[in-house]
Amino acid sequence: MYYISMVLMSTKIDLILKKYKPGRREDLIPMLQEIQDDSGYLSEEAIIRAGSFVGLSTTKIYGLATFYDQFRFLPAGKVQIKICNGTSCFLNGSQYVINKIMEETGLDPGQTGRDGIFSYEIETCMGGCNHGPVISVNGEYHTHIKADQLPELIKKLRYIIENE
Ligand code: FES
Repeated sequence: MYYISMVLMSTKIDLILKKYKPGRREDLIPMLQEIQDDSGYLSEEAIIRAGSFVGLSTTKIYGLATFYDQFRFLPAGKVQIKICNGTSCFLNGSQYVINKIMEETGLDPGQTGRDGIFSYEIETCMGGCNHGPVISVNGEYHTHIKADQLPELIKKLRYIIENE
């Protein structure tokens, strides 16, 4: 099963690379974005393949990709949380929400738990500045979030996933 999914992922990377011309470094970021949109994250194989396609070392690709905070290097959790820490949300207390999520999940931003349930990322603006702090849970937006709502929300989400 694992082997089949690795072959499928490899084939998908091939299909994406075919859309670009080899050696064009300016295509790197859109190419990585497309790979991530397709598979949810940038695997080590994707980094190596994209690097050799545009003629950059793996170290350089990691360096560039980590500069852009939209890239993930691990598969996301079943529950993917995004938290806005843009100016408006920050002024409304997003840091308390972030601290509480870290406390409740035991994860840093960009990490996925060993049980594969939670992952979360910090965003710079999620388009709801007048309603912050804003979070999204698997694409569903929650506004005016308070840190003390998090333990119950996390508990509920964990229960749903564990009983699927
Ligand atoms: S700053 Fe948080 S939604 Fe814009």
